[in-house]
Amino acid sequence: MSQEEQTILGIETSCDETAAAVIKGNSEHMEVLSDVVSSQVDIHKKYGGVIPEVAAREHVLNIIPVVHEALDQAGMTGKNMDKIAVTIGPGLITSLNTGVETAKSLSFAWEVPAVGVDHIEGHIYANYLTHGFNNIQLPAMVLTVSGGHTMLILIKAPGQYETIGITRDDAAGEAFDKAAKLMELGYPGGPVVSQQAEEYLQNNKEVKEVMSFPRPMIDSGNYDFSFSGLKTSLLYKIKKDPDWKSKIPQYCYEFQQAIIDVLVQKTIKAAGSYGVKSVMLSGGVAANQKFRSDLVRGVENKLPETGVFIPNMKYTTDNAAMIAAPAMFKKGGNWEDLTVRCQLKF
Ligand code: KG4
Ligand code: ZN
Repeated sequence: MSQEEQTILGIETSCDETAAAVIKGNSEHMEVLSDVVSSQVDIHKKYGGVIPEVAAREHVLNIIPVVHEALDQAGMTGKNMDKIAVTIGPGLITSLNTGVETAKSLSFAWEVPAVGVDHIEGHIYANYLTHGFNNIQLPAMVLTVSGGHTMLILIKAPGQYETIGITRDDAAGEAFDKAAKLMELGYPGGPVVSQQAEEYLQNNKEVKEVMSFPRPMIDSGNYDFSFSGLKTSLLYKIKKDPDWKSKIPQYCYEFQQAIIDVLVQKTIKAAGSYGVKSVMLSGGVAANQKFRSDLVRGVENKLPETGVFIPNMKYTTDNAAMIAAPAMFKKGGNWEDLTVRCQLKF
């Protein structure tokens, strides 16, 4: 690990956010000098999901202004950078290409080393950006829950990851997105479903679950997940219920709780059996308040000796500060060696 102070430009274009950030720090401490995210949500909303070709075109238009803005806000120029970090995967290949080709060009033009960063590792580092390096003890269990991934990852030592569980079909965020689509609530689904669920909770002091959503694979004996059956269950329930439109907050609450229960129970089980010192949450679904509080409460009750870490809200969904952060510990390389890699690394 480097004690030397470094300034790093991060670039993230793996899905539908064009993002750039400048961070400064060393192996003990990091400061985010700028964090610019240009979201394409309003564009993809009308299609009910991300259209890869449209996303790539938007990234091409946005990337240079977003990098400019990040440097401006940090009061820096490209020549001040010690490294350029860019997401190389996993993600949408045409979206990733825009970030990677931009990073290569900037690395060549500014003569600054380039570092390829795994998107999932970036989500994990959202916790280090929030809590610092020294407070999170290893080994740790990380639950990464986003629109594309649901993974339980064991961090044995810095940079040593082992995936112990993964979704077999839909990701948790995807389940929220598909549920919202079924209930005609728009895209992305997570924020609107959680808002409706919150409303239901506020208006019903004694919440009783009556819809009996399944808790898929909750007692499966491994750490894998499956969420596509939950979406099918929602589809059949609303098909059979002529009044479903008037009960949307309740449907959202109960559907959301089924996802949360599975995620929380399996994470605690994994953390207990691997005897970790910390539990971390990461990814876009980590923005869900009910999920955050259920996980914290669950870990505190069942594993009182284990620390539980949740990222700052602004680092839960895709951003470039979380991509710049792991580059602090990686050697910068030649721009020619950067290539997009769509598969998961760990
Ligand atoms: O990490 P992220 O920004 O992008 C990916 O890497 O996929 O995650 C986006 C996902 C979407 O599926 C979105 O619906 C979900 O995170 N999400 C939420 C909430 N906010 C965003 N899911 C549940 N509750 C939320 N409040
Ligand atoms: Zn992500």
